[in-house]
Amino acid sequence: RKNTFCVHCHHVLILSETSQFGGNAPLVRELGQRQRLNEEVLPFSAFLTDNFGRRHSYLRISLTEKCNLRCQYCMPEEGVKLTPRSQLLSTSEVLTVAQLFVREGVEKIRLTGGEPLIRPDVLDIITELRKLEGLKTIAVTTNGMNLARLLPKLKEAGLDLLNISLDTLVPAKFEFIVRRKGFHKVMEGIDKAIEMGYNPVKVNCVVMRGLNEDELLDFVALTEKKPLEVRFIEYMPFDGNKWNFKKMVSYQEMLDRIRQQWPSLEQLPLGKTDTAKTFKVPGFQGQVGFITSMSDQFCGSCNRLRITADGNLKVCLFGNTEVSLRDVLRSGASDQELLDIIGAAVGRKKKQHAGMFSISQMKNRPMILIGG
Ligand code: 5AD
Ligand code: SF4
Repeated sequence: RKNTFCVHCHHVLILSETSQFGGNAPLVRELGQRQRLNEEVLPFSAFLTDNFGRRHSYLRISLTEKCNLRCQYCMPEEGVKLTPRSQLLSTSEVLTVAQLFVREGVEKIRLTGGEPLIRPDVLDIITELRKLEGLKTIAVTTNGMNLARLLPKLKEAGLDLLNISLDTLVPAKFEFIVRRKGFHKVMEGIDKAIEMGYNPVKVNCVVMRGLNEDELLDFVALTEKKPLEVRFIEYMPFDGNKWNFKKMVSYQEMLDRIRQQWPSLEQLPLGKTDTAKTFKVPGFQGQVGFITSMSDQFCGSCNRLRITADGNLKVCLFGNTEVSLRDVLRSGASDQELLDIIGAAVGRKKKQHAGMFSISQMKNRPMILIGG
């Protein structure tokens, strides 16, 4: 897939193999013309399609910058400077933005944070999102601390999918990594999620050398009796998290170690926009996955956009370019104006991230201010 220019009007064209006209139908990509195009030609919103043909049908909305834990890999020990409340998206602003994206073709929304479940209106937001026609999946990434208590209500509101963060199975180590107590509450949350029929319940485990790399096999063992998908995540650099290459345990290294114990580990087919490479020990109820953002980036199939709690659209987790949708919303802009700004930002999305070493030098937000 490559871009070119229209010989008549010099607008950038996308050559889309998947256009309904097949083969080489050139698609004019120019902001003013997008809406018309959208109606007539593009099989997916022009505003949410980037210059590399990636269709962004998955939106991650951060609901808060606050968290009841202080994970080392996510935030600096001294905490982060919080945005004043008035500058965060309100309930209705979150819903306005969500509605617009869903109308353009977003099918999945994940609520993140900080810790999304500490936002008082989280149930109202899910209830309202559930009403949006076209939205197939509502997901939450949570640290699990309040999950056991909130889950019945979350399910009733319409929550489909759950990712729970847990980096260790040793309570004392939990306290060290997240700088707070709460291991048993998280385990209780995981068990409640299973009990309530979420399947698979995804467990996010950021693997760090010298910290929890020795627990890989214990996490795999957890999938024997529980329908979990444990996802081992390569440690990624963000501001204030003291990342360095030596602390990162690569996918290949993790896989080798697990294979030594479980040579029968089978790889499962990879979906088109899946970020995790998944495997299963035959006979186990659950499975394991690897998120290889550092050693084997999957930017080519990226379908995600992010909105930070303060209302910035972030087209790439590892890019520091952002545009404020909040300011545009508050200026009384029309949906069309908002879409033009979204479309322009999506249009500037880079082909892939700059690589872990450049990322580690780059100024970005700490993860807690982006949304996991
Ligand atoms: N590296 C990898 N994953 C991270 N997360 C947060 N910070 C990092 C990091 N530095 C992920 C964790 C957590 C989610 C909120 O974000 O998986 O579960
Ligand atoms: Fe909180 Fe999640 Fe960040 Fe940990 S990773 S500090 S639980 S937002």
